[in-house]
Amino acid sequence: MQYGHFDNANREYVIDRVDLPVSWTNYIGTGEMVGVFNHTAGGYLIYKSSEYHRITRFRPNGVPMDGPGHYVYLRDEDDGDYWSVSWQPVGKPKEHFSCRHGLSYVKYLSDYSGIDAEQTLFVAMDDPVEIWDVRLRNDTDRVRRLSVFSYLEFSFHQVDMDNRNFQMSLYAAGSRCADGVIEHDLYYEEDGYQFFTSDFQPDGFDCLRDRFIGPYRTERNPLVVETGETAGSFEKGGNHCGCLKKSLVLAPGEEARLIFLLGEGGIDAGRAMRKKYTAERVDGDFARLRAFWGRKLSCLQISTPNEGMNTELNIWNLYQSEINVMFSRFTSFIEVGGRVGLGYRDTAQDAMMVPHSNPGKCRSRLIELLRALTREGYGLHLFEPRWFEPVQKQQSFKSPTVVPVPDKSQIVHGIRDACADDALWLVSSVVQYVKETGELTFADETVTYADGGEGTVYEHLKRILDFSAREVGQNGICKGLRADWNDCLNLGGGESAMVSFLHLWALDRFCALAKRLNCPDDAERYAAIAAQVRRVCEATLWDGRWFIRGITADNRRIGTQADAEGKVHMESNTWAVISGAATREQGISAMDSVDEYLYTEYGLMLNAPCYTRPDDGIGFVTRVYPGLKENGAIFSHPNPWAWVAEAMLGRGERAMKFYNALCPVLQNDRIEVRQSEPYSYCQFVVGRDHTAFGRARHPFMTGSSGWAYYAATQYLLGIRPDFDGLIVDPCIPADWKEFSVTRKWRGSTYTIHVRNPDGVQKGVRSLTADGKSVSILPVLPAGSICRAEVVMG
Ligand code: GLC
Repeated sequence: MQYGHFDNANREYVIDRVDLPVSWTNYIGTGEMVGVFNHTAGGYLIYKSSEYHRITRFRPNGVPMDGPGHYVYLRDEDDGDYWSVSWQPVGKPKEHFSCRHGLSYVKYLSDYSGIDAEQTLFVAMDDPVEIWDVRLRNDTDRVRRLSVFSYLEFSFHQVDMDNRNFQMSLYAAGSRCADGVIEHDLYYEEDGYQFFTSDFQPDGFDCLRDRFIGPYRTERNPLVVETGETAGSFEKGGNHCGCLKKSLVLAPGEEARLIFLLGEGGIDAGRAMRKKYTAERVDGDFARLRAFWGRKLSCLQISTPNEGMNTELNIWNLYQSEINVMFSRFTSFIEVGGRVGLGYRDTAQDAMMVPHSNPGKCRSRLIELLRALTREGYGLHLFEPRWFEPVQKQQSFKSPTVVPVPDKSQIVHGIRDACADDALWLVSSVVQYVKETGELTFADETVTYADGGEGTVYEHLKRILDFSAREVGQNGICKGLRADWNDCLNLGGGESAMVSFLHLWALDRFCALAKRLNCPDDAERYAAIAAQVRRVCEATLWDGRWFIRGITADNRRIGTQADAEGKVHMESNTWAVISGAATREQGISAMDSVDEYLYTEYGLMLNAPCYTRPDDGIGFVTRVYPGLKENGAIFSHPNPWAWVAEAMLGRGERAMKFYNALCPVLQNDRIEVRQSEPYSYCQFVVGRDHTAFGRARHPFMTGSSGWAYYAATQYLLGIRPDFDGLIVDPCIPADWKEFSVTRKWRGSTYTIHVRNPDGVQKGVRSLTADGKSVSILPVLPAGSICRAEVVMG
């Protein structure tokens, strides 16, 4: 069953059945002001921090679902009927409503009662101002008298106070309205103001939520909208809202446009912004927003026989991956503000995926992660980048609502709380960044350590590799510590096969960097460590048909043929191949086992059979319901690892079978099962051993997006930047006759046309760049256009 369709020409997803089973969300803002909104305008806006600077309130996991939001109500002054442009909260017959999710904007559309209406939400390009662009048209042949009411509910900035400490929040926030500008004032905070205004002189306003809604009512039937009368309410203290009213008379066919602005600062800022954001400026900003994404997407565009892949890679998969790099994990309907900062492993992986479209942000993320590395070589699992900024911004006064920077001794956790994989990801991310940008000097940059002292980026990487070489268990395999990539596999002093494979992968990439930087001694030293890791892996981790997942602290091997539960695991088998630890025969056998035990029509399960008996030697995974999350769900993030592994084995058919199973776009007609957005990878899809098999959960903020993008572009389509050239090494289904990729790299544009006359899955018979035969596409003077012809065979 479908609820909407992809409009690729406009880069939008159109929801034409708005009664979705769950919220389908999207993000607005590309800088410090960010909002997350669903298909009915439910959602919230933040500035810089979802924990400390919440602008609008959201009642998470609530009933009615996913509100309040940024709503526009329309009222017919002749018959008193009223509705919301975004369908909810009033909820008139759904046939009259639709929603278009675009890149960093959302449009809500309605054609109720002969009035065509549209509300677009997006954030201005240069100012922390959210824009609501509202357009109305009278499609009837009679004169219509309408009232328009905006509505949003302000939040106390600090979300914890807002949800728990009413003796404070209710008496430290006030409101007033002057010159058509509503001001929300957080009295305790320096500069703690928001404004809400419009490009018209309002005919009425309300700042007090409870006056707007009225007793024993909800946003579905607010008193002010029902009566059509605003009260002009405001007060020092209480719950505050932003309601501005405009009365309109529309002749048949007549149109009107109203612009609302929500932003940082008080009445004066509101006055200035209302002057600045004229309709013309709003149009200009919207065009700039479209161009902003146009530029990013143009870094890599593909045309292949797989329409699902085209839509993913050309639009949505890059968009989602960028959102992860920009905003990390803690602004969504799942994480609603109680946690902030950067998760070490997720951020390190995110930063590896989009250095072509966002080199600046990837680079600054890498620096933030390098600063959160301890001298011992492990990363701080969850940290706030501001803790390690060279110059701490001073508060000029002490506010009870501003949480101070904690003491270093509290920030730097010990090895007991370290995750074995966290910093290893960073090695490859740094190497990837250098390969993309050619910025070899990045390695020489000096960066501090979290617990004092400083070193170059290059030295940081060595400490990471040394840490994993040191922290091995009784069999010589890397210790699992608090967890590895799998948060719920808690092996402690036991050993993780995945981490040793990851170590090997990072070592290989580092050695290549060391060689390129003319550090032969390091290249040799770390190659020797890699050889040792490989030997130990070979001797310890093969179980005859596949690789084990690890060894518990009391020396029990897990993920073996003898196990009744948790027999085959994704992480160790895919990484055995990706790291190069597996021989070809082992790799084939291991990945055949992945296909046999873990494949489902919705993607690959993380492990099978699921655990049903608690075993604390293995970890929390054994206490998770079978089929959910880490216990045998189709956890999306490791799925692309299997695509990479299959591509490395040269099995394009298999890789594409796995790709297609997880591909959200290809699930668009199965929403009755999937439920969630088909334009976003979700953290997991419920596994086979659960009654809700196939149901997807937790969109947008998941490492699966970046990995899907990376695996598909660099290993399936096979366009991979190296230090001194662009590798072309596709692995595709045999029936693909051809495909093409336009890739921007180091300032030049490469148009790559691949033909496959012999129907192979892998192998390049010839490669030419502008007619010249080459083995790799060369680096060219910036601004060049290179035409590459590739023949597989
Ligand atoms: C969540 C976490 C991620 C972890 C994964 C598997 O997605 O954000 O860090 O790797 O779960 O446990």
